[in-house]
Amino acid sequence: MLEYRGYDSAGVTVFNGSLETYKIAGRIKDLEALIPENIEGNIGIGHTRWATHGRPETKNAHPHLSSNVSVVHNGIIENYLELKERLSLHGYDFHSDTDTEVIAHLLHYNMNCNGTRCLFEGLAETVKELHGSYAIAALCEDEPDSIAFARKDSPLVIGIGKEGNYAASDVTAFLRHTREVIYIDDGEIGLLKPGSIEIFDKAGIKVSRNAQIVEWNLEAAEKAGYEHFMLKEIHEQPTSIQNTFAGKLSELEGTVTIDELYLEPEDIKKLRRATIIACGTSWNAGILGKYLFEKLAAIHTDVETASEFRYSNPVLCGEELTIAITQSGETADTLAAVRSSSSYGCRTIAITNVVGSTITREADSVFYTRAGPEIGVAATKTFTAQLVALYLIAIYLGRIRGVISANDAKDLIVGIKRLPGQIQKVLNSNDEIKECAVRFADKRDYFFIGRYLNYPVALEGALKLKEISYIHAEGYAAGELKHGPLALITEETPVVAIATRGHTYDKILSNIKEVKARNATVIAVAEDDDSEIEKYADVVLRIPSSHELLSPVLSSVVLQLLSYHTAHAKYCSIDKPRNLAKSVTVE
Ligand code: G6P
Repeated sequence: MLEYRGYDSAGVTVFNGSLETYKIAGRIKDLEALIPENIEGNIGIGHTRWATHGRPETKNAHPHLSSNVSVVHNGIIENYLELKERLSLHGYDFHSDTDTEVIAHLLHYNMNCNGTRCLFEGLAETVKELHGSYAIAALCEDEPDSIAFARKDSPLVIGIGKEGNYAASDVTAFLRHTREVIYIDDGEIGLLKPGSIEIFDKAGIKVSRNAQIVEWNLEAAEKAGYEHFMLKEIHEQPTSIQNTFAGKLSELEGTVTIDELYLEPEDIKKLRRATIIACGTSWNAGILGKYLFEKLAAIHTDVETASEFRYSNPVLCGEELTIAITQSGETADTLAAVRSSSSYGCRTIAITNVVGSTITREADSVFYTRAGPEIGVAATKTFTAQLVALYLIAIYLGRIRGVISANDAKDLIVGIKRLPGQIQKVLNSNDEIKECAVRFADKRDYFFIGRYLNYPVALEGALKLKEISYIHAEGYAAGELKHGPLALITEETPVVAIATRGHTYDKILSNIKEVKARNATVIAVAEDDDSEIEKYADVVLRIPSSHELLSPVLSSVVLQLLSYHTAHAKYCSIDKPRNLAKSVTVE
């Protein structure tokens, strides 16, 4: 269930009279083939890896062992070389290139070499010496009813089951057993036994925390007959975006209510600037957010790549709003960037899909997208849910600031409510999109161009295609083509132009003509009542006409299906593309 978070190697240790460990470079199915069918045990730990230190080889797969101790770890131990040197002097042999192996040896050392300690005490001693990020689960052969765990800057959640307890980096791991969970905070460590869960804070004081019930159910995290999670998630969008806006829109009054932002109207009126921080697909959503906040709420907005922002010198005075967009709520760079902006005193709103994720504890307020679990590595339904969240927040701020009228807001609200039905129409045109995808699946390069609100759609279209089909794809602001990329356009290059009507429509038509003049094949995404476009484009993929500001949601669904069918035609690993992982919890 966790394979989407990493899938280059995998392993397990179970206690079956003694510790038995199996690991392999490859997928979970390769591990399954390795493990004896009759394996038994009352306790175990497992891991599916996304390599940071050490290549994806069997010796680097987790669990890592030290005599009677076995450890799995997410994160990065920054001082591992120093620890490795010290442990080598104590006679420990290293068999992997990973940072994790030092945890296993250090744990063993701490349990045995400075007086005898139990597993829990040994881990408590061990984490004191670790610099970096970690979620750790550890077993010791001498304590066959215990798993010790610890967390710092890497997610860890406990599941309380009827027949046992669980620790995992994501609730989807144990959804088939329980929806009752306890989120572990940074710096906490603890011990799981079949009938008890003990958690201690940094100071060693016992923590008592109530369990929460997760809304997600197992069916939501399974494929439900679809060939891939990605296809299922694309098809869920009529429902997922409905869940994003449910209960927040008043068509009659032309208002959006988002109580969970806890912003005072007076503070909203004073806002002059907002900074959106995100990575990957969420960053692409952020570009749309910028345009919306500026148009609908007259707030100057910057969009920052989290990995850059965290090492830059932002000029912030503390009166700006920070909006962190992160599907998982766990992206290490986004979390670090948010901490940096908070240090200037900025108020942070998180837009996330995962209840209880780390960002929800870092931010001042949280907007949940409520799209349900997304398992395919390529984000689809969570992206459109983020777009909808940004429409809602922009209208909400814009109404309070008096930038848009009740009537303009009503038009948008009516438009938003129509989106689920319109997405369904796009999904119904699957066959045309598939035909187009198959026709160009053998191309080496693809360009996606758009202007204004369609620019982030182009960026996301290109990202989706390169992620899952391995075709080189570039997303460009259409007006920028002539400043370089036009040199790459030949008759072998499909150019996808997002050409919905609005004040940049004539401009994108000119850009289409520019690339046609260089013999490119143009695939246009256009509204169903636009007959003009056929004169210029080779293929037209249709979306229903919508409010001008809302078409990005519909165009994005077309491009998701285009990528999906291209990758399918190329027999690619759609849900688990090479080298990628869904949540990047390391820097
Ligand atoms: C990874 C995923 C992307 C995602 C990005 C940011 O790279 O593969 O699909 O957009 O992380 O993730 P977040 O959870 O912060 O939105």
